[in-house]
Amino acid sequence: MKKIAVMTSGGDAPGMNAAVRAVVRRGINLGCSVFGVRRGYTGLLNGNKLIEMELGSVADIIHRGGTILLTARAPEMFEPAYQDQAADFLKKEGIEGLVVIGGEGSFKGALTLEERGIKVSGVPATIDNDINGTEQTIGFDTAVNTILDAVNKLRDTATSHERVFLLEVMGRNNGFLALAAGLAGGAESILVPEMEYDLDEVCERVLHGIRRQKAHSIIVVAEGAGDVFYINEEIKKRLKADIRVTVLGHIQRGGSPSAVDRMLGSRMGALAVDLLSEGKSGYYTAFRGNEVFPTSLKQSFDQARKFPEELYKLALILAR
Ligand code: F6P
Repeated sequence: MKKIAVMTSGGDAPGMNAAVRAVVRRGINLGCSVFGVRRGYTGLLNGNKLIEMELGSVADIIHRGGTILLTARAPEMFEPAYQDQAADFLKKEGIEGLVVIGGEGSFKGALTLEERGIKVSGVPATIDNDINGTEQTIGFDTAVNTILDAVNKLRDTATSHERVFLLEVMGRNNGFLALAAGLAGGAESILVPEMEYDLDEVCERVLHGIRRQKAHSIIVVAEGAGDVFYINEEIKKRLKADIRVTVLGHIQRGGSPSAVDRMLGSRMGALAVDLLSEGKSGYYTAFRGNEVFPTSLKQSFDQARKFPEELYKLALILAR
């Protein structure tokens, strides 16, 4: 394979740049020309000029959040006519293989290009950590640490005022981020879409804390678990307490990637290129048991990633 391209797609995630760097440098190391697609699938559909990447094009990016290639959401890629258009563009440019760095939607798009004769490799990158078959996605670790930083700061002020805080975190329809941040942050309750919750019980946990002289209560709410402002009103009604809501928002998607995300990006990016150079297509780089394995792209979305219920229960036991 002589000519490959790399793109980042969907929500950006810290560590994407480390993956881009690995794709470019491993590709050049194997004798390929590597091109960067700007703005993900939108870039392909708009026929954006591909950028020839040199070794120096990816210098000084391993420590940066976001993605130097820019990214976008391209819902058009769910339609066959646009899938044809994207594949035709790559063929016209002589691109034989494409590395797609992104989440589930990006992987679905990649498979439609494969059906049209482009060899593809996926690198799982999303702060949501919601891809089936990999224990971790690029960006998750950094996002959890960013949330923890917020939890620590909220604890300071919550303790000083003896208040209850609701902290809404991202994760789309999943509670993986909320669970990790809640467990590592010692949150009193964690509300996630995967587990039914009862606000009376949440309030009982707060009261239990107060009875044993806890000065603060932090409740982590996954954005998919319900409207945090509604939850706030309901808890206020029951507790008649002074509650504050913090919505962390896109802050949790930025920032310099952690060591874990830089390592994942580096290992996964390189493996994605190795697969293409061996003529393999339709795989993504999954992390399991400290190894990175080629895994069928289909497996990444043919079933939802299992929520670790035992870990959730443990988090609640430990925060009593
Ligand atoms: O998938 C990553 C993510 O940050 C989700 O956690 C969140 O629901 C969504 O993207 C937000 O998307 P946007 O940046 O388009 O508002």
